[in-house]
Order: sequence, then C-alpha cells, then structure tokens
Amino acid sequence: MLTADQTAAFHRDGFLMLPGFLDAGACSRLVQRAEQLVDGFDADAHRTIFQTRDQRHAADTYFLSSGDRIRFFFEEEAFDADGRLRQEKRLSINKIGHALHDLDPEFDAVSRDRRLAAIMTDLGMLQPVLMQSMYIFKQPRIGGEVTCHQDATFLYTDPPSVVGLWFALQHATVENGCLWALPGGHRAGLKSLFGRTAEGGVAMRTLNPTPWPEMTPENGYVPLEASAGTLVLLHGLLPHLSGPNRSDRSRHAYAVHVVDGALPWPADNWLQRGEDNPARGF
Ligand code: FE2
Repeated sequence: MLTADQTAAFHRDGFLMLPGFLDAGACSRLVQRAEQLVDGFDADAHRTIFQTRDQRHAADTYFLSSGDRIRFFFEEEAFDADGRLRQEKRLSINKIGHALHDLDPEFDAVSRDRRLAAIMTDLGMLQPVLMQSMYIFKQPRIGGEVTCHQDATFLYTDPPSVVGLWFALQHATVENGCLWALPGGHRAGLKSLFGRTAEGGVAMRTLNPTPWPEMTPENGYVPLEASAGTLVLLHGLLPHLSGPNRSDRSRHAYAVHVVDGALPWPADNWLQRGEDNPARGF
C-alpha cells in the first residue's frame, strides 16, 4: 500500500497523511451510524449512574470497563449545574469508545479494510491487533481541546508499538480543531504512562519530566488539516494534540489504535478486554 518514500516519511516525521483513503459515501455512512448509536443511547439513564454519591468512582468504573464495549462520553461543558444537558444530546457527546471496531458491523468493516492490514505490514508490524477505537465528535462551539500527548502513554507495550489510524470523516481545519503534531517528536521517547493503580483507580506516571514545547508554529508544531476521507497514520510516540472547536462546524473523526500482538499486554494498562471478547487482528 505504501511507497518506500511514504514509509520513510512516516518514520522520519512520525505521521503520514493519505488523502482520499475513504470515499465520501463511506464517510457519510459512518457519520450516520454514529448518529444512530447516539439516538439509541439513553442519556437520562446514563445521568443517574453519575448521580451517585461517589461520582468520581462511577465515572472511573464506566470508563475503565469500556475497553470491550460501546460507551458514550459527554463533553465537559455538556451539563448545567442541575445536571441537565445544555444542548441536545447529539450535540453533547464528546466520543464513543472503545470497541466499535469489534461490536458494530459498519465500523468493523472500515476498521478491517485489507488496505489497513497491508499498511501495518509496510510499517513493520508483524502481528497487528486492533486494540481500541473511538468516534470523536469535536462538537461545534463546545468541542474541547485534547492536550499534547503520545498514544503510547495510554496504550502501552514494551517496547511501544501502538500506531493510530485516524480517519477524517468531515473536513478538519484549524478553525474546527484539527490535529496538530510535532514532526520528529516521536524520537524523544515516552514521557508518561497512564495506568491502573493497586487501589483500583488510574494515575499518570511521569517518565521524563521535561514538558513538551509550548504549542506554537515557531516551536515546530504543524496543523494536520485533513479533508474528509483522509487517513492520518500516527506513530505511537508522536506528540500530538487538537484545539477546541469554537466554530459552527463539527469535526467528526474515527480512530483505531493497533498494537503488536506479539508483545504482552500489561495488566496495568487502563484498557482491558474481557476473556470472552479478546482483541483481534484484521
Ligand atoms: Fe491521540
């Protein structure tokens, strides 16, 4: 699938953009499917889960057991002080995660496109396993920023192997919160590790306290503006982020994270799959 130049660019920069990977029909089918899933989701029942006395614990449990489920996560600013949605449900969801690629036939088909298997082979992964997927809405006006991070912080193997497959389903521009990346930053090594603690929660552990350079073009960050249908390949150690969406246009994207199944999956990674629903390859 990839030319030698494309493979070299991925290893040099830590990312590679493939415009037109999905056609317009495939993009709109996924957008529609995500909207159907949100329509079928009972936000009132969900809210009662979080109105328990120990809200933090309920939120952690909902998140930590989402690795092999389809679950819905709200934007931070979605609810008012009384726990009511500020705008309609379909404009309030931040993301759906984390096993769409296994549990939903439409997402499964796109995620297990044979071209993706070939790309992973081109990038040198011998036993690719689809560990996680996310549908990201980046809602108009309230879509929150995602601060600078490396995906290997959240999906760790030793050595790090995760590769992100990020599909723009709608045009992503600076105005509506496209990705930004620090080309070559993947060579700096892993800075932090997010995992489960012995107490049953999660915590961030610092491996290298030097912060990422401030996010400015002068510091080398580049916007990854992507037309709908573009596939962005992201090295698991690449520092990347996305800004808030203050525009009137949504910026839907779908991301799949693939790891090398030949490497052990640590028991303290936040994402764990049930024995009856193990992560699978292409
Ligand atoms: Fe990421």
